[in-house]
Amino acid sequence: MPSIAEQVASRRTFAIISHPDAGKTTLTEKLLLYTGSIQTAGSVKGKASARHAVSDWMDIEKERGISVTSSVLQFTYDGACVNILDTPGHQDFSEDTYRTLMAADAAVMVIDGAKGVEAQTIKLFKVCTLRHIPIFTFVNKLDHDTRDPFDLMEEIEDVLGIGTYPMTWPIGSGRNFKGVFDRNSRRVIAFEGDGHANATKKVGEIEAELGDPALDELIGEENHKNLMDDIELLDGADNEFDLDAVRHGRLTPVFFGSALTNFGVEPFLKDFLRLAPPPLSYTDTLSGEPVEPSRDEFSGFVFKIQANMDRRHRDRIAFVRICSGKFERGMDAYHVQGDRTIKLATGTAMMADDRATVDEAYAGDIVGLFDPGLFSIGDTICAPGMRVQYPPIPTFAPEHFARITQVDTLKRKQFVKGMEELAQEGAIQIFRELGTGLESVIVGAVGVLQFEVLEQRLRSEYHVEVSRTSLPYSIIRWIQNSPDELDVRTLKLTRETCRVEDMRGGRLLLFTSDWNLDWAIEHNPDLQLSEFGNVTF
Ligand code: G4P
Repeated sequence: MPSIAEQVASRRTFAIISHPDAGKTTLTEKLLLYTGSIQTAGSVKGKASARHAVSDWMDIEKERGISVTSSVLQFTYDGACVNILDTPGHQDFSEDTYRTLMAADAAVMVIDGAKGVEAQTIKLFKVCTLRHIPIFTFVNKLDHDTRDPFDLMEEIEDVLGIGTYPMTWPIGSGRNFKGVFDRNSRRVIAFEGDGHANATKKVGEIEAELGDPALDELIGEENHKNLMDDIELLDGADNEFDLDAVRHGRLTPVFFGSALTNFGVEPFLKDFLRLAPPPLSYTDTLSGEPVEPSRDEFSGFVFKIQANMDRRHRDRIAFVRICSGKFERGMDAYHVQGDRTIKLATGTAMMADDRATVDEAYAGDIVGLFDPGLFSIGDTICAPGMRVQYPPIPTFAPEHFARITQVDTLKRKQFVKGMEELAQEGAIQIFRELGTGLESVIVGAVGVLQFEVLEQRLRSEYHVEVSRTSLPYSIIRWIQNSPDELDVRTLKLTRETCRVEDMRGGRLLLFTSDWNLDWAIEHNPDLQLSEFGNVTF
Protein backbone atom coordinates (compact mmCIF):
# COMPACT_ATOMS: atom_id res chain seq x y z
CA MET A 1 0.00 0.00 0.00
CA PRO A 2 1.40 3.41 -0.91
CA SER A 3 1.90 5.70 2.08
CA ILE A 4 -0.08 8.92 2.50
CA ALA A 5 2.97 10.87 1.35
CA GLU A 6 3.25 8.74 -1.81
CA GLN A 7 -0.47 9.05 -2.52
CA VAL A 8 -0.30 12.82 -2.14
CA ALA A 9 2.85 13.13 -4.25
CA SER A 10 1.11 11.37 -7.15
CA ARG A 11 -1.80 13.87 -7.22
CA ARG A 12 -2.17 16.57 -9.87
CA THR A 13 -5.23 18.77 -9.39
CA PHE A 14 -6.06 21.39 -11.97
CA ALA A 15 -8.84 23.37 -13.58
CA ILE A 16 -9.25 24.31 -17.21
CA ILE A 17 -10.07 27.96 -17.80
CA SER A 18 -11.24 29.43 -21.07
CA HIS A 19 -13.67 31.73 -22.78
CA PRO A 20 -16.79 29.81 -23.92
CA ASP A 21 -16.19 27.86 -27.13
CA ALA A 22 -12.40 27.94 -27.00
CA GLY A 23 -12.41 24.16 -26.58
CA LYS A 24 -12.31 23.36 -22.86
CA THR A 25 -14.82 20.52 -23.12
CA THR A 26 -13.14 19.08 -26.19
CA LEU A 27 -9.70 19.16 -24.60
CA THR A 28 -11.03 17.55 -21.40
CA GLU A 29 -12.60 14.83 -23.45
CA LYS A 30 -9.42 14.19 -25.44
CA LEU A 31 -7.43 13.92 -22.21
CA LEU A 32 -9.91 11.35 -20.95
CA LEU A 33 -9.82 9.44 -24.22
CA TYR A 34 -6.07 9.53 -24.40
CA THR A 35 -5.65 8.23 -20.89
CA GLY A 36 -8.19 5.49 -21.50
CA SER A 37 -10.69 6.92 -19.01
CA ILE A 38 -13.45 6.94 -21.60
CA GLN A 39 -13.77 5.00 -24.84
CA THR A 40 -16.08 7.09 -27.00
CA ALA A 41 -15.60 10.61 -28.21
CA GLY A 42 -18.67 12.70 -27.44
CA SER A 43 -17.79 14.93 -30.35
CA VAL A 44 -18.46 12.20 -32.93
CA LYS A 45 -21.57 13.71 -34.36
CA GLY A 46 -24.67 12.13 -35.77
CA LYS A 47 -24.10 8.66 -34.47
CA ALA A 48 -26.56 6.90 -32.27
CA SER A 49 -23.75 5.69 -30.09
CA ALA A 50 -22.32 9.15 -29.60
CA ARG A 51 -22.03 10.08 -25.97
CA HIS A 52 -21.87 13.49 -24.50
CA ALA A 53 -18.53 14.75 -23.47
CA VAL A 54 -18.25 13.59 -19.93
CA SER A 55 -17.37 17.02 -18.72
CA ASP A 56 -20.57 18.42 -20.13
CA TRP A 57 -21.89 18.22 -16.62
CA MET A 58 -24.98 20.32 -17.24
CA ASP A 59 -26.22 17.93 -19.88
CA ILE A 60 -25.62 15.00 -17.63
CA GLU A 61 -27.59 16.83 -15.00
CA LYS A 62 -30.52 17.22 -17.36
CA GLU A 63 -30.38 13.65 -18.53
CA ARG A 64 -30.13 12.04 -15.17
CA GLY A 65 -32.02 14.61 -13.19
CA ILE A 66 -29.15 15.07 -10.83
CA SER A 67 -26.86 17.96 -10.42
CA VAL A 68 -23.19 17.28 -10.71
CA THR A 69 -21.96 20.72 -11.67
CA SER A 70 -18.51 21.81 -10.61
CA SER A 71 -17.51 18.36 -9.78
CA VAL A 72 -14.26 16.66 -10.49
CA LEU A 73 -13.09 14.10 -12.99
CA GLN A 74 -10.43 11.79 -11.69
CA PHE A 75 -8.23 9.43 -13.64
CA THR A 76 -4.85 7.79 -13.31
CA TYR A 77 -2.20 8.00 -15.96
CA ASP A 78 1.44 7.05 -15.94
CA GLY A 79 1.58 6.81 -12.17
CA ALA A 80 -0.20 10.13 -11.60
CA CYS A 81 -3.66 10.51 -10.10
CA VAL A 82 -5.15 13.43 -12.01
CA ASN A 83 -8.11 15.53 -10.84
CA ILE A 84 -9.69 17.89 -13.35
CA LEU A 85 -12.01 20.37 -11.68
CA ASP A 86 -14.92 21.56 -13.74
CA THR A 87 -15.23 25.31 -14.14
CA PRO A 88 -18.69 25.91 -15.57
CA GLY A 89 -18.74 28.39 -18.43
CA HIS A 90 -21.52 29.48 -20.81
CA GLN A 91 -24.81 30.30 -19.03
CA ASP A 92 -23.84 28.51 -15.86
CA PHE A 93 -20.82 30.74 -15.37
CA SER A 94 -21.06 31.87 -11.78
CA GLU A 95 -19.11 32.65 -8.66
CA ASP A 96 -18.65 28.89 -8.26
CA THR A 97 -16.47 28.95 -11.33
CA TYR A 98 -14.14 31.34 -9.54
CA ARG A 99 -14.30 29.49 -6.24
CA THR A 100 -13.29 26.26 -7.91
CA LEU A 101 -10.00 27.90 -8.83
CA MET A 102 -9.27 28.28 -5.10
CA ALA A 103 -9.20 24.47 -4.92
CA ALA A 104 -6.86 23.91 -7.89
CA ASP A 105 -3.09 23.59 -7.82
CA ALA A 106 -2.67 24.60 -11.44
CA ALA A 107 -4.74 25.92 -14.31
CA VAL A 108 -4.76 25.11 -17.99
CA MET A 109 -5.77 28.11 -20.07
CA VAL A 110 -7.30 27.17 -23.40
CA ILE A 111 -7.11 29.91 -26.01
CA ASP A 112 -8.76 29.88 -29.41
CA GLY A 113 -5.83 30.51 -31.78
CA ALA A 114 -7.98 32.66 -34.06
CA LYS A 115 -9.34 34.81 -31.25
CA GLY A 116 -6.54 35.16 -28.75
CA VAL A 117 -7.12 36.25 -25.15
CA GLU A 118 -10.87 36.80 -24.58
CA ALA A 119 -12.88 38.46 -21.81
CA GLN A 120 -13.76 35.45 -19.66
CA THR A 121 -10.21 34.14 -19.84
CA ILE A 122 -8.95 37.44 -18.45
CA LYS A 123 -11.34 37.26 -15.48
CA LEU A 124 -10.47 33.66 -14.68
CA PHE A 125 -6.79 34.35 -15.10
CA LYS A 126 -6.95 37.19 -12.56
CA VAL A 127 -8.44 34.82 -10.01
CA CYS A 128 -5.60 32.35 -10.60
CA THR A 129 -3.08 35.07 -9.90
CA LEU A 130 -4.55 35.55 -6.39
CA ARG A 131 -2.90 32.27 -5.40
CA HIS A 132 0.00 32.46 -7.85
CA ILE A 133 -0.75 28.98 -9.16
CA PRO A 134 1.06 27.77 -12.28
CA ILE A 135 -0.78 28.37 -15.53
CA PHE A 136 -0.28 26.26 -18.63
CA THR A 137 -1.53 27.53 -21.96
CA PHE A 138 -3.00 25.43 -24.74
CA VAL A 139 -3.50 27.40 -27.97
CA ASN A 140 -6.30 25.52 -29.68
CA LYS A 141 -7.92 25.13 -33.10
CA LEU A 142 -4.69 25.13 -35.12
CA ASP A 143 -6.54 23.10 -37.76
CA HIS A 144 -8.30 26.39 -38.56
CA ASP A 145 -6.52 29.49 -39.72
CA THR A 146 -5.14 31.14 -36.63
CA ARG A 147 -3.30 34.30 -35.79
CA ASP A 148 0.46 34.45 -36.00
CA PRO A 149 1.85 32.53 -32.99
CA PHE A 150 4.32 35.32 -32.16
CA ASP A 151 1.40 37.78 -32.00
CA LEU A 152 -0.49 35.46 -29.70
CA MET A 153 2.50 35.19 -27.35
CA GLU A 154 2.78 38.95 -27.26
CA GLU A 155 -0.90 39.33 -26.51
CA ILE A 156 -0.75 36.87 -23.61
CA GLU A 157 2.23 38.75 -22.18
CA ASP A 158 0.69 42.21 -22.65
CA VAL A 159 -2.90 41.52 -21.66
CA LEU A 160 -2.32 39.04 -18.85
CA GLY A 161 1.08 40.21 -17.67
CA ILE A 162 2.68 36.76 -17.60
CA GLY A 163 5.82 35.63 -19.42
CA THR A 164 5.42 32.96 -22.11
CA TYR A 165 7.59 30.00 -22.93
CA PRO A 166 6.49 28.00 -25.99
CA MET A 167 7.07 24.30 -25.25
CA THR A 168 5.83 23.28 -28.67
CA TRP A 169 5.60 25.39 -31.79
CA PRO A 170 3.08 25.03 -34.60
CA ILE A 171 4.09 24.12 -38.11
CA GLY A 172 1.65 26.05 -40.27
CA SER A 173 -2.03 26.47 -39.46
CA GLY A 174 -5.41 25.82 -41.05
CA ARG A 175 -5.17 23.63 -44.15
CA ASN A 176 -1.43 23.86 -43.96
CA PHE A 177 -1.17 22.66 -40.36
CA LYS A 178 1.48 19.96 -40.31
CA GLY A 179 2.01 19.35 -36.64
CA VAL A 180 4.12 20.67 -33.82
CA PHE A 181 7.79 20.92 -32.97
CA ASP A 182 8.61 19.87 -29.41
CA ARG A 183 11.34 22.25 -28.28
CA ASN A 184 12.47 20.12 -25.39
CA SER A 185 12.95 16.83 -27.19
CA ARG A 186 13.65 18.60 -30.53
CA ARG A 187 11.16 16.26 -32.17
CA VAL A 188 8.74 17.03 -34.93
CA ILE A 189 5.37 15.43 -34.38
CA ALA A 190 3.64 15.47 -37.74
CA PHE A 191 -0.01 14.95 -38.48
CA GLU A 192 -2.16 14.70 -41.52
CA GLY A 193 -5.87 15.24 -41.85
CA ASP A 194 -7.97 13.23 -44.21
CA GLY A 195 -10.65 15.87 -44.58
CA HIS A 196 -12.75 14.67 -41.66
CA ALA A 197 -12.36 16.52 -38.43
CA ASN A 198 -12.12 13.48 -36.21
CA ALA A 199 -10.24 11.18 -38.50
CA THR A 200 -6.91 12.93 -38.36
CA LYS A 201 -3.96 10.78 -37.60
CA LYS A 202 -0.40 11.11 -36.55
CA VAL A 203 1.71 10.31 -39.60
CA GLY A 204 5.11 10.48 -38.10
CA GLU A 205 7.16 11.46 -35.15
CA ILE A 206 10.82 11.82 -35.75
CA GLU A 207 13.68 13.03 -33.74
CA ALA A 208 15.62 15.08 -36.19
CA GLU A 209 17.78 18.13 -35.93
CA LEU A 210 16.30 21.09 -37.71
CA GLY A 211 17.92 21.20 -41.12
CA ASP A 212 17.80 17.43 -41.52
CA PRO A 213 16.53 16.62 -45.06
CA ALA A 214 14.20 14.01 -43.53
CA LEU A 215 12.12 16.90 -42.25
CA ASP A 216 11.72 18.32 -45.77
CA GLU A 217 10.03 15.11 -46.63
CA LEU A 218 7.83 14.98 -43.55
CA ILE A 219 6.52 18.54 -43.40
CA GLY A 220 7.53 20.05 -46.74
CA GLU A 221 10.51 22.21 -47.61
CA GLU A 222 8.89 25.58 -47.03
CA ASN A 223 7.34 24.63 -43.70
CA HIS A 224 10.70 23.29 -42.64
CA LYS A 225 12.42 26.52 -43.53
CA ASN A 226 9.82 28.65 -41.72
CA LEU A 227 10.07 26.42 -38.69
CA MET A 228 13.86 26.84 -38.62
CA ASP A 229 13.47 30.62 -38.72
CA ASP A 230 10.85 30.59 -35.96
CA ILE A 231 12.85 28.33 -33.69
CA GLU A 232 15.98 30.40 -34.18
CA LEU A 233 14.01 33.45 -33.09
CA LEU A 234 12.56 31.65 -30.10
CA ASP A 235 15.85 30.15 -28.99
CA GLY A 236 17.44 33.57 -29.18
CA ALA A 237 14.62 35.28 -27.21
CA ASP A 238 15.05 36.46 -23.65
CA ASN A 239 12.61 34.20 -21.87
CA GLU A 240 14.53 31.25 -20.48
CA PHE A 241 12.64 28.24 -19.26
CA ASP A 242 12.52 28.74 -15.52
CA LEU A 243 10.62 26.11 -13.53
CA ASP A 244 10.46 28.30 -10.46
CA ALA A 245 8.79 31.08 -12.49
CA VAL A 246 6.33 28.50 -13.89
CA ARG A 247 5.51 27.15 -10.44
CA HIS A 248 4.78 30.66 -9.15
CA GLY A 249 2.63 31.72 -12.07
CA ARG A 250 5.11 34.19 -13.57
CA LEU A 251 5.81 32.20 -16.74
CA THR A 252 3.32 30.11 -18.69
CA PRO A 253 4.49 27.13 -20.74
CA VAL A 254 2.61 27.32 -24.05
CA PHE A 255 1.49 24.39 -26.19
CA PHE A 256 -0.12 24.47 -29.60
CA GLY A 257 -2.61 22.02 -30.97
CA SER A 258 -6.06 21.15 -32.05
CA ALA A 259 -8.12 19.41 -29.41
CA LEU A 260 -10.81 18.42 -31.88
CA THR A 261 -8.46 16.56 -34.17
CA ASN A 262 -6.15 15.44 -31.40
CA PHE A 263 -3.09 17.40 -32.53
CA GLY A 264 -0.62 18.19 -29.81
CA VAL A 265 -2.66 16.87 -26.89
CA GLU A 266 -0.16 14.12 -26.06
CA PRO A 267 2.95 16.32 -25.75
CA PHE A 268 0.87 18.73 -23.72
CA LEU A 269 -0.28 16.07 -21.26
CA LYS A 270 3.19 14.60 -20.84
CA ASP A 271 4.84 17.93 -20.14
CA PHE A 272 1.98 19.09 -17.99
CA LEU A 273 2.31 16.05 -15.72
CA ARG A 274 6.05 16.53 -15.58
CA LEU A 275 5.90 20.22 -14.69
CA ALA A 276 2.67 20.66 -12.71
CA PRO A 277 3.13 20.61 -8.96
CA PRO A 278 1.78 18.01 -6.55
CA PRO A 279 -0.79 19.38 -4.06
CA LEU A 280 0.24 22.81 -2.81
CA SER A 281 0.11 23.64 0.85
CA TYR A 282 -2.52 26.02 2.19
CA THR A 283 -1.78 28.38 5.05
CA ASP A 284 -3.25 27.83 8.48
CA THR A 285 -4.43 31.27 9.58
CA LEU A 286 -4.14 30.32 13.27
CA SER A 287 -0.42 29.66 13.17
CA GLY A 288 0.36 31.55 9.98
CA GLU A 289 2.25 28.44 8.82
CA PRO A 290 1.63 26.34 5.71
CA VAL A 291 0.10 22.92 6.39
CA GLU A 292 2.12 20.12 4.80
CA PRO A 293 -0.23 18.15 2.47
CA SER A 294 1.57 14.88 3.25
CA ARG A 295 0.93 15.22 6.97
CA ASP A 296 -1.10 12.29 8.38
CA GLU A 297 -4.06 14.23 9.78
CA PHE A 298 -6.95 15.02 7.50
CA SER A 299 -7.92 18.64 6.88
CA GLY A 300 -9.71 20.55 4.16
CA PHE A 301 -12.05 23.43 3.39
CA VAL A 302 -15.44 23.85 1.75
CA PHE A 303 -15.11 25.74 -1.53
CA LYS A 304 -18.54 25.20 -2.99
CA ILE A 305 -22.00 24.25 -1.84
CA GLN A 306 -24.43 22.71 -4.27
CA ALA A 307 -28.09 22.72 -3.35
CA ASN A 308 -30.68 20.08 -4.05
CA MET A 309 -28.64 17.41 -5.71
CA ASP A 310 -31.73 15.32 -5.34
CA ARG A 311 -34.82 17.44 -5.72
CA ARG A 312 -36.82 15.26 -3.33
CA HIS A 313 -34.52 16.26 -0.53
CA ARG A 314 -33.35 19.61 0.71
CA ASP A 315 -29.85 18.23 1.22
CA ARG A 316 -26.93 20.13 -0.09
CA ILE A 317 -23.53 18.86 -1.05
CA ALA A 318 -20.49 20.62 0.28
CA PHE A 319 -17.43 20.21 -1.91
CA VAL A 320 -14.28 19.94 0.13
CA ARG A 321 -10.75 20.36 -1.09
CA ILE A 322 -8.55 18.09 0.99
CA CYS A 323 -5.47 20.02 2.10
CA SER A 324 -3.70 17.37 4.16
CA GLY A 325 -3.78 13.70 5.05
CA LYS A 326 -6.34 11.06 4.25
CA PHE A 327 -10.13 11.21 4.17
CA GLU A 328 -12.03 8.07 5.11
CA ARG A 329 -15.75 7.67 4.74
CA GLY A 330 -17.43 7.67 8.11
CA MET A 331 -14.52 9.32 9.87
CA ASP A 332 -15.02 11.82 12.67
CA ALA A 333 -13.92 15.35 11.93
CA TYR A 334 -13.95 18.67 13.70
CA HIS A 335 -15.92 21.44 12.01
CA VAL A 336 -14.00 24.53 13.02
CA GLN A 337 -16.64 27.21 12.35
CA GLY A 338 -19.40 25.12 13.96
CA ASP A 339 -17.08 24.17 16.85
CA ARG A 340 -18.18 20.56 16.95
CA THR A 341 -17.20 17.07 15.93
CA ILE A 342 -19.19 15.55 13.09
CA LYS A 343 -19.21 12.30 11.17
CA LEU A 344 -18.21 12.63 7.53
CA ALA A 345 -20.69 10.01 6.48
CA THR A 346 -20.60 10.11 2.73
CA GLY A 347 -18.27 11.32 0.10
CA THR A 348 -18.97 11.43 -3.59
CA ALA A 349 -16.79 12.29 -6.50
CA MET A 350 -16.96 12.05 -10.23
CA MET A 351 -14.88 9.12 -11.37
CA ALA A 352 -14.77 9.52 -15.13
CA ASP A 353 -18.43 9.33 -16.15
CA ASP A 354 -19.95 7.82 -13.06
CA ARG A 355 -20.68 9.41 -9.77
CA ALA A 356 -19.12 7.09 -7.31
CA THR A 357 -19.00 6.93 -3.59
CA VAL A 358 -15.57 7.67 -2.27
CA ASP A 359 -14.25 5.58 0.57
CA GLU A 360 -10.93 7.27 0.85
CA ALA A 361 -9.24 10.29 -0.64
CA TYR A 362 -6.04 12.23 -0.13
CA ALA A 363 -4.72 15.77 -0.10
CA GLY A 364 -5.31 17.24 -3.55
CA ASP A 365 -8.59 15.35 -4.01
CA ILE A 366 -12.08 16.80 -3.82
CA VAL A 367 -14.88 15.06 -1.95
CA GLY A 368 -18.54 15.98 -1.86
CA LEU A 369 -20.10 15.67 1.60
CA PHE A 370 -23.82 15.53 2.20
CA ASP A 371 -24.59 18.66 4.12
CA PRO A 372 -27.75 19.11 6.14
CA GLY A 373 -27.11 22.87 6.26
CA LEU A 374 -24.06 22.83 8.48
CA PHE A 375 -21.43 24.33 6.27
CA SER A 376 -20.71 27.71 4.75
CA ILE A 377 -18.30 28.44 1.95
CA GLY A 378 -14.76 28.62 3.27
CA ASP A 379 -15.35 26.47 6.39
CA THR A 380 -12.53 24.28 7.62
CA ILE A 381 -12.90 20.67 8.72
CA CYS A 382 -10.05 18.67 10.17
CA ALA A 383 -9.18 15.58 12.17
CA PRO A 384 -10.29 15.92 15.81
CA GLY A 385 -7.31 17.09 17.77
CA MET A 386 -5.80 18.98 14.85
CA ARG A 387 -6.40 22.72 15.05
CA VAL A 388 -6.13 24.53 11.75
CA GLN A 389 -8.21 27.12 9.95
CA TYR A 390 -7.85 27.84 6.28
CA PRO A 391 -8.22 31.36 4.87
CA PRO A 392 -11.71 32.44 3.79
CA ILE A 393 -12.56 32.19 0.12
CA PRO A 394 -12.45 35.66 -1.45
CA THR A 395 -15.66 37.23 -2.68
CA PHE A 396 -15.57 37.78 -6.41
CA ALA A 397 -16.95 40.77 -8.19
CA PRO A 398 -20.50 40.21 -9.49
CA GLU A 399 -21.21 41.85 -12.81
CA HIS A 400 -24.99 41.91 -12.82
CA PHE A 401 -27.13 43.69 -10.27
CA ALA A 402 -30.83 43.78 -9.53
CA ARG A 403 -33.07 45.11 -6.82
CA ILE A 404 -35.12 42.29 -5.32
CA THR A 405 -38.25 43.27 -3.41
CA GLN A 406 -40.66 40.98 -1.63
CA VAL A 407 -44.18 41.16 -3.01
CA ASP A 408 -46.06 40.01 0.09
CA THR A 409 -44.79 42.07 3.03
CA LEU A 410 -46.32 39.59 5.50
CA LYS A 411 -43.69 37.08 4.47
CA ARG A 412 -40.80 39.20 5.55
CA LYS A 413 -39.33 36.50 7.79
CA GLN A 414 -39.23 33.88 5.04
CA PHE A 415 -37.83 36.42 2.61
CA VAL A 416 -34.97 37.39 4.90
CA LYS A 417 -34.28 33.73 5.78
CA GLY A 418 -34.29 32.68 2.12
CA MET A 419 -32.04 35.49 1.03
CA GLU A 420 -29.61 34.89 3.87
CA GLU A 421 -29.45 31.15 3.32
CA LEU A 422 -28.97 31.46 -0.40
CA ALA A 423 -26.26 34.04 0.12
CA GLN A 424 -24.57 31.79 2.70
CA GLU A 425 -24.60 29.00 0.16
CA GLY A 426 -22.84 31.40 -2.18
CA ALA A 427 -25.48 31.36 -4.92
CA ILE A 428 -25.74 35.15 -4.89
CA GLN A 429 -24.30 38.11 -3.05
CA ILE A 430 -26.57 40.50 -1.24
CA PHE A 431 -25.91 44.14 -0.56
CA ARG A 432 -27.67 46.71 1.53
CA GLU A 433 -27.83 50.28 0.42
CA LEU A 434 -26.58 52.44 3.26
CA GLY A 435 -29.52 53.58 5.34
CA THR A 436 -32.13 51.07 4.08
CA GLY A 437 -33.71 47.93 5.56
CA LEU A 438 -33.90 44.38 4.31
CA GLU A 439 -37.31 44.40 2.58
CA SER A 440 -35.56 45.38 -0.61
CA VAL A 441 -32.00 44.38 -1.29
CA ILE A 442 -29.51 44.71 -4.07
CA VAL A 443 -28.43 41.34 -5.36
CA GLY A 444 -25.25 40.80 -7.31
CA ALA A 445 -24.48 37.78 -9.44
CA VAL A 446 -21.57 36.74 -11.60
CA GLY A 447 -23.84 35.10 -14.18
CA VAL A 448 -27.25 36.45 -15.12
CA LEU A 449 -28.85 33.01 -14.80
CA GLN A 450 -28.33 33.22 -11.03
CA PHE A 451 -31.21 35.69 -10.76
CA GLU A 452 -33.64 33.22 -12.29
CA VAL A 453 -32.33 30.47 -10.06
CA LEU A 454 -32.76 32.80 -7.07
CA GLU A 455 -36.40 33.64 -7.90
CA GLN A 456 -37.25 30.04 -8.54
CA ARG A 457 -35.69 28.83 -5.33
CA LEU A 458 -37.29 31.55 -3.23
CA ARG A 459 -40.62 30.48 -4.67
CA SER A 460 -40.23 26.73 -4.32
CA GLU A 461 -38.21 26.48 -1.12
CA TYR A 462 -39.37 29.52 0.85
CA HIS A 463 -42.77 30.22 -0.76
CA VAL A 464 -41.88 33.83 -1.35
CA GLU A 465 -42.71 35.84 -4.45
CA VAL A 466 -40.35 38.66 -5.34
CA SER A 467 -40.13 41.31 -7.99
CA ARG A 468 -36.87 42.09 -9.71
CA THR A 469 -35.65 45.32 -11.25
CA SER A 470 -32.38 45.28 -13.14
CA LEU A 471 -29.90 47.88 -12.02
CA PRO A 472 -27.42 49.55 -14.35
CA TYR A 473 -24.30 48.78 -12.29
CA SER A 474 -21.63 46.60 -13.83
CA ILE A 475 -18.53 47.30 -11.77
CA ILE A 476 -18.07 46.70 -8.09
CA ARG A 477 -15.15 47.56 -5.85
CA TRP A 478 -14.51 46.77 -2.21
CA ILE A 479 -13.21 49.69 -0.16
CA GLN A 480 -9.94 48.68 1.47
CA ASN A 481 -9.64 51.64 3.84
CA SER A 482 -10.80 51.02 7.41
CA PRO A 483 -13.95 52.85 8.68
CA ASP A 484 -11.77 54.94 11.04
CA GLU A 485 -9.66 56.02 8.15
CA LEU A 486 -12.43 56.85 5.75
CA ASP A 487 -16.09 57.78 6.08
CA VAL A 488 -17.87 56.65 2.89
CA ARG A 489 -20.45 59.41 3.20
CA THR A 490 -17.74 61.98 2.59
CA LEU A 491 -16.51 60.39 -0.64
CA LYS A 492 -16.86 62.48 -3.75
CA LEU A 493 -18.77 60.34 -6.23
CA THR A 494 -20.85 60.78 -9.36
CA ARG A 495 -24.61 60.61 -8.96
CA GLU A 496 -24.75 57.20 -10.64
CA THR A 497 -22.42 55.64 -8.06
CA CYS A 498 -23.98 53.68 -5.21
CA ARG A 499 -22.59 53.04 -1.70
CA VAL A 500 -23.47 49.62 -0.27
CA GLU A 501 -22.50 47.11 2.42
CA ASP A 502 -22.11 43.35 2.03
CA MET A 503 -23.17 40.61 4.46
CA ARG A 504 -19.85 40.73 6.27
CA GLY A 505 -20.03 44.47 6.80
CA GLY A 506 -17.61 45.15 3.95
CA ARG A 507 -18.09 48.54 2.32
CA LEU A 508 -18.40 48.77 -1.42
CA LEU A 509 -19.08 51.03 -4.32
CA LEU A 510 -21.16 50.15 -7.38
CA PHE A 511 -20.37 51.89 -10.64
CA THR A 512 -22.22 52.02 -13.93
CA SER A 513 -19.09 52.47 -16.04
CA ASP A 514 -15.31 52.70 -16.04
CA TRP A 515 -15.71 56.44 -16.41
CA ASN A 516 -17.49 56.68 -13.03
CA LEU A 517 -14.89 54.43 -11.43
CA ASP A 518 -12.04 56.56 -12.78
CA TRP A 519 -13.83 59.68 -11.57
CA ALA A 520 -14.02 58.29 -8.04
CA ILE A 521 -10.33 57.35 -8.05
CA GLU A 522 -9.33 60.74 -9.37
CA HIS A 523 -11.40 62.75 -6.87
CA ASN A 524 -10.59 60.68 -3.78
CA PRO A 525 -6.81 60.26 -3.72
CA ASP A 526 -6.82 58.23 -0.47
CA LEU A 527 -9.49 55.80 -1.55
CA GLN A 528 -8.18 52.23 -1.93
CA LEU A 529 -10.29 49.84 -3.95
CA SER A 530 -10.06 46.11 -4.64
CA GLU A 531 -11.70 43.86 -7.20
CA PHE A 532 -11.97 41.07 -4.63
CA GLY A 533 -13.48 41.05 -1.16
CA ASN A 534 -12.07 39.22 1.81
CA VAL A 535 -8.69 38.35 0.36
CA THR A 536 -6.23 37.07 2.90
CA PHE A 537 -3.79 35.12 0.76
P1 G4P B 1 -15.89 25.09 -24.47
O1 G4P B 1 -16.05 23.88 -23.60
O2 G4P B 1 -14.63 25.84 -24.20
O3 G4P B 1 -17.06 26.00 -24.51
O4 G4P B 1 -15.71 24.61 -25.97
P2 G4P B 1 -16.06 23.23 -26.66
O5 G4P B 1 -15.03 22.22 -26.34
O6 G4P B 1 -17.48 22.91 -26.43
O7 G4P B 1 -15.81 23.65 -28.17
C1 G4P B 1 -16.57 24.67 -28.79
C2 G4P B 1 -16.63 24.41 -30.27
O8 G4P B 1 -15.32 24.43 -30.84
C3 G4P B 1 -17.21 23.05 -30.63
O9 G4P B 1 -17.86 23.18 -31.87
C4 G4P B 1 -15.98 22.20 -30.81
O10 G4P B 1 -16.20 21.08 -31.65
C5 G4P B 1 -15.05 23.20 -31.47
N1 G4P B 1 -13.64 22.87 -31.27
C6 G4P B 1 -13.01 22.53 -30.13
N2 G4P B 1 -11.70 22.30 -30.37
C7 G4P B 1 -11.49 22.51 -31.68
C8 G4P B 1 -10.36 22.42 -32.53
O11 G4P B 1 -9.25 22.09 -32.12
N3 G4P B 1 -10.54 22.73 -33.85
C9 G4P B 1 -11.76 23.08 -34.35
N4 G4P B 1 -11.83 23.35 -35.64
N5 G4P B 1 -12.86 23.17 -33.57
C10 G4P B 1 -12.73 22.88 -32.26
P3 G4P B 1 -19.41 23.39 -31.98
O12 G4P B 1 -19.76 23.16 -33.39
O13 G4P B 1 -19.79 24.68 -31.36
O14 G4P B 1 -19.96 22.32 -31.00
P4 G4P B 1 -20.24 20.85 -31.29
O15 G4P B 1 -21.60 20.94 -31.86
O16 G4P B 1 -19.19 20.37 -32.28
O17 G4P B 1 -20.15 20.17 -29.98
